[in-house]
Amino acid sequence: AVYVVDCGGQYCHLIASRIRQHEALSKVVPCDVAASSLLGDVGAVIVSGGPESVFDPSSRRVDPALWDLEVPILGICYGCQMLCQDLGGRVEAAPVGEFGRARLFVSRENNSLLLTPEHDGSVVWMSHRDRVTALPPDFETIATTEHSPHAAVAHKKKPLFGLQLHPEVAHTERGLEILRNFVDLAGLRGTWRCADVAQHQISRIQEKTGENLSVFVLVSGGVDSAVAFALIAKALPAHRVAGLYVDTGMMRKDETAKVKASLRALGGNLKFVDASDLFLKNLEGVTNPEAKRRVIGDTFLQVQKEECGFLSDDTHWLLGQGTIYPDTIESGKGGADVIKTHHNRVPEIERLLRAGQVVEPLAQLYKDEVRAVGEKLGLPKHLVWRHPFPGPGLGVRLLCVEDERPPPSRVVVLRNHRGVVKVDIPPLRSVGCQGDSRTYKNFVVFKTGYPRDWVELDRMATDVINEHDAINRATISLTNNATPFVITPGAPHTVTRSRLDLLREADALVHQAFVDADLMTSIWQCPVAMAPLTFHDNAAAAASSSSSSKETIILRPVDSTEAMTASFSKLPWDLLDHLTNALFDKLGDRISDVLFDITNKPPGTIEWE
Ligand code: XMP
Repeated sequence: AVYVVDCGGQYCHLIASRIRQHEALSKVVPCDVAASSLLGDVGAVIVSGGPESVFDPSSRRVDPALWDLEVPILGICYGCQMLCQDLGGRVEAAPVGEFGRARLFVSRENNSLLLTPEHDGSVVWMSHRDRVTALPPDFETIATTEHSPHAAVAHKKKPLFGLQLHPEVAHTERGLEILRNFVDLAGLRGTWRCADVAQHQISRIQEKTGENLSVFVLVSGGVDSAVAFALIAKALPAHRVAGLYVDTGMMRKDETAKVKASLRALGGNLKFVDASDLFLKNLEGVTNPEAKRRVIGDTFLQVQKEECGFLSDDTHWLLGQGTIYPDTIESGKGGADVIKTHHNRVPEIERLLRAGQVVEPLAQLYKDEVRAVGEKLGLPKHLVWRHPFPGPGLGVRLLCVEDERPPPSRVVVLRNHRGVVKVDIPPLRSVGCQGDSRTYKNFVVFKTGYPRDWVELDRMATDVINEHDAINRATISLTNNATPFVITPGAPHTVTRSRLDLLREADALVHQAFVDADLMTSIWQCPVAMAPLTFHDNAAAAASSSSSSKETIILRPVDSTEAMTASFSKLPWDLLDHLTNALFDKLGDRISDVLFDITNKPPGTIEWE
């Protein structure tokens, strides 16, 4: 296999997925993996990029013995810097970072198998501050960019390579070819074929169900349950496959219609139930996040029982689930993870599992493999590349006010190495993770004069969270409005259809912008949350007019491998400006501000509740 060593990079899962596109088996392993533990199975290694600096003594390092494994090795970005530093080269902080597109110049002497003359002049994506300034012994430079004298390096005799650029992202024009060349020079093409995976699973479903068992699947609209349903529908005749999709009223815009259209085409007997009235009724007045989760979960079970009570006493039915590999590891971890993954490992399902009555065709796969299988089965792209979406849906992205009379917003002056920064601490709480538990604390909003520099903002967010015990999250205001926030007076602060509709519209706009910018595959997930906050200046107007109950939209795009840890996505600023304008153009009369979350996980979480 190609082992992808995760150094906390934004694009690690994407590298693994790109490798599988070239039909090589790839596995993601943590940065501190012992080189010796890979022996026997390792065919090549890719060390990913990461957010840290090789100069920071606390930054992640790989086991130096990794470089001695006698297989092709490719270090990308931070991985390239570590490779060069460990093997005797020099890395220095550049006076200016290199972020965005650059042109690659392939050296005339290049005769590596990684780059070909076709790469000369092609556009590549760079995202780094430090850079390699002197090569390790026996290395040569095989390509440069304007600001990186060693944009691609290779050992003269061994298959050791370093790329400062990111071949895995779509912005690198010929990036896929570079990774294909790497797979080919390692001789690993053909070690993974998703068509084989799909066929193998179809045969297993047929074996398990024999002549007369049928399978029932709960379909959420997410990629996992959709692919599981598709496999089961392919494996069995239509009358032996049934599914249920419950519209909770907390789905995304047009989601139910899209799921209906794409899954109906697969056959089977799929039932759609609109239970949104019941969900909203049960949620009336519920504001506490965990209570909301419980109400949504219980209502779901209630609907499911009503719709498919026949299952419990019919021994001819097995339960089909879209459980994937990370679900089963996460559920075993307790604490925070139990809260969100328990739906496919609750005691009732555990009992069915022990009785051999559950079909889980994706249980050994990672998300990107599930996606590859989905594409192979012909599911539409919008379904296959759908971001993970929590079971309780928009219900946990619509922040509610728990406290009847929240404390007023505070404007605080913070001191850091840059001097003095003014931040707002709005009177609302957001969730973060501390070890295994979820903790609710305040968040800050950097409003005016923050630098438009992701590295600097990352540092500022980390500083403020580290220094202030009561704070677990930092955001920037994309409108830079200087007035402090208050809870919007007179507005409903609970889950209502009208608030859900507004959030749905905002979410749809954000996602369309990401689709247009071809960012859906590189961003792991982008929750859009909404908080009943308005600027102090607007509050008096809002109090006197029930129609202007303003909300604040929060963008939370993250890069992650499997959602266990995450870093906030460093998106192009012009995209964020465009997005903010689009939100105000369409929804301006109801929104007060747009915030962008600059917190990593930990200490933050991906979701806001
Ligand atoms: P956090 O917010 O804990 O999220 O960093 C990690 C991943 O889990 C998803 N998530 C949920 N999924 N029910 C779910 O089915 C939940 O209650 C829930 N809460 C969080 C989240 O979207 C992310 O992918």
